Amino acid sequence: MFFTDLLPQLSLAEKASLLSGDGDWWTQAVPRLAVPAVELGDGPHGLRTETGEDMVWLPSTCFPTLSALAATWDRDLVREVAAAIGAEARAMGVHLVLGPGVNLKRTPLCGRNFEYPSEDPWLTGRLAAAYVDGLQGTGVGACVKHFAANNQETERTRVSVEADERTLRELYLAAFEHVVREAEPWALMCSYNRVGGTYASAHPWLLTTVLRDEWGYQGLVVSDWDAVHDKVASVRAGLDLEMPGTGGRTDAEVVDAVRRGELDEADVDRAARRVLHLVDRTRPAPGPLRGLGHRPGDTLTPAQEELLGAAAHHELARRAATASLTLVRNTGVLPLDPASPARIALVGGYARVPRIQGGGSAGVRPTRVDTPLDALSAALGDRLVTAEGYRVGATDYYQERPLPTDPDADEALADEAVALAAGSDIVVAVVGLPLAADSEAVDRTDLALPPAQVDLLRRLAALDVPLVVVVQSGSAVTMDPWHDGTAAVLLTGLAGQGVGQALADVLLGRADPGGRLTETYPLQLADSPGMPTVTGERGHVVYGEGVLIGYRWYDALDRPIRYPFGHGLSYTTFALDDLHVEVLDAAAGRVRCTVQVTNTGARRGTQVVQVYVGDPESAVHRPVRELKGAVKVALDPGERTRAVVELTGRDFAYVDATSGAWRREGGRFVVEVGVSSRDLVARAEVELPDDPALPPVVRDEDLPTDPVAWAVGGDGPVRG
Ligand code: GLC
Repeated sequence: MFFTDLLPQLSLAEKASLLSGDGDWWTQAVPRLAVPAVELGDGPHGLRTETGEDMVWLPSTCFPTLSALAATWDRDLVREVAAAIGAEARAMGVHLVLGPGVNLKRTPLCGRNFEYPSEDPWLTGRLAAAYVDGLQGTGVGACVKHFAANNQETERTRVSVEADERTLRELYLAAFEHVVREAEPWALMCSYNRVGGTYASAHPWLLTTVLRDEWGYQGLVVSDWDAVHDKVASVRAGLDLEMPGTGGRTDAEVVDAVRRGELDEADVDRAARRVLHLVDRTRPAPGPLRGLGHRPGDTLTPAQEELLGAAAHHELARRAATASLTLVRNTGVLPLDPASPARIALVGGYARVPRIQGGGSAGVRPTRVDTPLDALSAALGDRLVTAEGYRVGATDYYQERPLPTDPDADEALADEAVALAAGSDIVVAVVGLPLAADSEAVDRTDLALPPAQVDLLRRLAALDVPLVVVVQSGSAVTMDPWHDGTAAVLLTGLAGQGVGQALADVLLGRADPGGRLTETYPLQLADSPGMPTVTGERGHVVYGEGVLIGYRWYDALDRPIRYPFGHGLSYTTFALDDLHVEVLDAAAGRVRCTVQVTNTGARRGTQVVQVYVGDPESAVHRPVRELKGAVKVALDPGERTRAVVELTGRDFAYVDATSGAWRREGGRFVVEVGVSSRDLVARAEVELPDDPALPPVVRDEDLPTDPVAWAVGGDGPVRG
């Protein structure tokens, strides 16, 4: 029996009740027909069950945040982590996990960048599809968010994003489109912001024209919490479920609107059917870990930890963290020799209380945490000496009180750390952004680490002692003036509860650093896209940089950067050669690229082979290169393999703003293969014909007075 079959038996009031939640975390049940409620719970990097009168957070595994998990560039591993989150959701009785977030990192300032995979839509879409596959394979729904163009926290509940149709479709909708078409998420969450002046929660072009009519999406659309401003308009536009519940207020608005003829009952039926379809898909059942009367602060019993899978998931969290750690600079000091008698100074409060996640709705109460201090102490014993180095406000792993200014205390801690370092053979300084800088509802105003940390690093870099800097942050930070005085720089992102052991294993050479950057690290904030008004003003933010964000921006301007998208070092070395690019079907634009990858070093390691496409001759300005394929390989010394990437017609196409259609313009295309957006080791050219399915591209000089879509409001592209 399917609950959707019950729709004809429901009254208008019962149907309307399904269109809003029951409290903060549940859909409405319909007891008369035994329709159960579905529980929704935040992700995306672990579960937070926030229910009961005490709003208890039950412990769950805190995996690497999505930005760190993305740095693995490993779809199988992402799928495995999502499946573990699904297993914990079932144990807790959560039926729909509110993740993954797939908004692009338009600016490194966005406070929620830790929740988002990348600045690139191709990589974001592939990794998010793997997450959805892994999660939904456990019978728990995924909810892809925040649809659409929620790329900042500044005024997020009201700012209007002014972006042309091409920019939206090629960048900000592209990852959603890939996930919808390839992984069929059971739910999708609309964002708070406006697009072209219309709230995303009541945006017919986004929620119906694009999502349903073009992409064929069959799942449910749920609002972000309190993102609905006009319930009737939202239902009419294609929203299915308003969260949280409004105690029946907006249910009554829906009933009244139908009765007054202002809302088609067919719209109500459509939304109610999708809610019932979600019930059918999730088959909600209570989880064995819920309703046990946990009180705030309670932990899980060993038996309950067993039900959660806590031990195995902690190992997975460690493995995922190891695969995400990104070594961006190494003058040879790493890996450290665990057998060496060298005295190692470990400096930094975040080595004692590591930054493992960001703040806001994604917060998770970890089941346990490996700290860098514990893991390195266990490995090095009395060869390790430590100093706090700077003050931290961290009290646990999801709260951190702001620190009062206290230059004397900072200086005293720095003096102590510098003195300790001066008498050591190597210094490992663990630094990072405070929780408040990597949090929902706030954007940073600069890219620097806290001043006390910068000052400490400057002093450590001036010593004649090799300095290894470990940075824990959810998005790019600037590295002046200490960077050039370092022997190595290792980025952990916000890598979850396993980060300490992962860091020790990588620093001591027990594991290869597997991460590659999924966002560009600029030299300075002013170099980044959209500055200086990148988060807009007066209620509007204009995406004037168009399709040029991330590496697309820096490459278009040929701007120097600190570290490029895709960059990361292994402890071994690799050679890429013998590139073959073969046109399999010119009309369809299918092209196969293969390249030989050889481990030319003395240790096993991993490499991410990246394939970029460029269209140097086109009717419109296009990015110099765009990522269209990536393969991660793990090879033993001397071992070689062939990485294979198949490109489709869409990989060569752009969105023609005069029609909104994806089109491939015939001509010469450049295919580049490399290990970052700036380290391209081989290139080839292919000739492809015009896309036969479309009329020939109209060149500028022949353009009729056809309008071009320069803004996209709720009624769709405004062609003016
Ligand atoms: C928040 C977030 C969203 C989250 C939801 C429930 O405001 O924007 O990502 O899932 O509300 O906490």
